[in-house]
Amino acid sequence: MSLVLKDVKKHFNLEAGLFARYGKFVYAVNGVSFDIKNNEAFGLVGESGCGKTTVARLIVQMYKHSFGHISFTDKNGTVFDLDNIDNKNLKLLRNKIRYIFQDPARSLNPRMTILDVLTSGYKYSPFWKGNKKAKEESTEILESVGLSEKDLERRPQDFSGGQRQRISIARALLTKPELLICDEVVSALDVSIQSQILNLLVEIRKKYQISLLFIAHDLTVVSYFCDRIGVMYGGQIVELGSSKSITEKKLHPYTQLLYSSIPDIKNRKEILAEKTIIEMPAPTQKPEGCPFYNRCKIHKEICLTKQPILKEIEPEHFVACHCLE
Ligand SMILES: Nc1ncnc2c1ncn2[C@@H]1O[C@H](COP(=O)(O)OP(=O)(O)O)[C@@H](O)[C@H]1O
Ligand SMILES: [Mg+2]
Repeated sequence: MSLVLKDVKKHFNLEAGLFARYGKFVYAVNGVSFDIKNNEAFGLVGESGCGKTTVARLIVQMYKHSFGHISFTDKNGTVFDLDNIDNKNLKLLRNKIRYIFQDPARSLNPRMTILDVLTSGYKYSPFWKGNKKAKEESTEILESVGLSEKDLERRPQDFSGGQRQRISIARALLTKPELLICDEVVSALDVSIQSQILNLLVEIRKKYQISLLFIAHDLTVVSYFCDRIGVMYGGQIVELGSSKSITEKKLHPYTQLLYSSIPDIKNRKEILAEKTIIEMPAPTQKPEGCPFYNRCKIHKEICLTKQPILKEIEPEHFVACHCLE
């Protein structure tokens, strides 16, 4: 399989709804390009509000992209052109690309049994082979995420946060996806539980030969887990390369800032959260120049007016920064 995004943009129109303001947009994603190859784990990292979730939702077409191109080619070679997809193909696509949400407590219906949670969406997919088969498959999947058959009759509130995230993963695996999107799947969990879930994802990746889009605000988690990483800032990818190359070279000033926030593990989240509130550019401003301009110590005049694009600075390692050209 392969997924390709080319210069994808998403501008939310604020004209409609509660906060209607004529002609106002939220510039959430401003020209993102990357691809995910077969069996690859690709990471998107960046602080809260930089557009990661919006990218994920564009890939499963929960939102329609405003500009650019997205296409997905499955393992049989069938191409899904997301610029122009009908409902039938969209259903198929959403079985092949599964999206796991951040918050395991809210994404599972508390009134359903785990069997219903696992199978309710699956029931309407082309892979459905009846109740008996579904129960067998559910048991098998549940066991592969470290739970057991007797858990099928229990309800989400009987489980801890980590176990609920295992259930979300099991639910996603049931339609035999080719790409799994994990959006901050460990962010709401305790550190000790985080590593268990990450290890589970490593196992699952090997066992089911799945590609992953792994989204997190935490660079250590992403670099531990992914083959390649895209570092996002202000709706753009500012650095893209192999985990190894990015960890070693940290070329973009923003990547350096992300790393410099790491040493104090305990305060890391607070540091990033604080910087977000103070310095993130207002996303309702039309993006001009480099999104990182305000926070950058080495900026030049051109950075204010011209949006930098990704350029290959090291082999297979791309950076969008006028100052490194
Ligand atoms: N449905 C929406 N309508 C308007 N603005 C949105 C919507 N979804 C996200 N945004 C805005 O887009 C920006 C990116 O959000 P998001 O993709 O959730 O970032 P991240 O996942 O990196 O935290 C934020 O400024 C957010 O407020
Ligand atoms: Mg998000």
